[in-house]
Amino acid sequence: MTEQFEVEGWQAYRMNWRRPHRSLEPLDDEIEVIDRALDALVARGVLPHAHYDKASFAAHRRAVRERFDIPWTAISPRMQRLLYAINAITEPAVMVAVGIFCGNTFISNAGAAIGPGAVYEAERLVGLEIRPAEADRARRNVATMHRDGATVDILGEDGGPWLDTFQGTIDLLYLDADGPVGRGKSIYLDLLESGLHALDTGSLVLAHNSVNAAHQLSDYLDFVRTSDRFVESVNMVVDDQGLEVSKVG
Ligand SMILES: C[S@@+](CC[C@H](N)C(=O)[O-])C[C@H]1O[C@@H](n2cnc3c(N)ncnc32)[C@H](O)[C@@H]1O
Repeated sequence: MTEQFEVEGWQAYRMNWRRPHRSLEPLDDEIEVIDRALDALVARGVLPHAHYDKASFAAHRRAVRERFDIPWTAISPRMQRLLYAINAITEPAVMVAVGIFCGNTFISNAGAAIGPGAVYEAERLVGLEIRPAEADRARRNVATMHRDGATVDILGEDGGPWLDTFQGTIDLLYLDADGPVGRGKSIYLDLLESGLHALDTGSLVLAHNSVNAAHQLSDYLDFVRTSDRFVESVNMVVDDQGLEVSKVG
């Protein structure tokens, strides 16, 4: 049975991808929805607790709005808050994001460790984007948030081979890469298999588009929901895109 957290009325919560900063609901409602989402992850043993600093998140959101060049994004305000909170709560020393486009998805994760919303010290934060021009844009965007502290690498590379040869532990792996025509999001399982050797007990894997691309992701979702490598996997339906949150056992 699929473990699922579903917000009532998620179908009606829709953003304009070209106006990512537009508010879609009262802020208190957004906070309450994500608090419930985090509680659900705590109840399933995915997160140790559900507390994150909301003022720090607000500083992060403000900085992204003021500093980032975002041509479009499907990261809704709810998803931005959920990603930030998961990172702020679990404090991954090494976070790797694959398919970061202009960098908004990267910073939604990394913003808990760099920039004005930073709440912990990471060791290494890596963003991979296969299109060089978008990798350059992401690098420029992320540079507006980064000062000292964690090593931040925004790489214009294919995430698959990079993961294949990565040595060390990845504490949080974020997947959002859209493969070539015909494959789309179905490349998630290949990417996960490339990075599997680097995941340790307690590592998290976050997969964007668990709702709108569920069909393309069916082999990926089957794997994280049934493989012995994962102790828990929850489909977080907070918007029409969704996020599968999986914990390595
Ligand atoms: C659809 S975009 C992600 C956008 C993100 N969901 C958002 O809303 O901001 C997916 C990105 O993955 C990149 N990509 C595709 N295959 C990749 C791979 N193998 N490694 C790294 N990036 C890849 C694409 O170039 C594209 O920019």
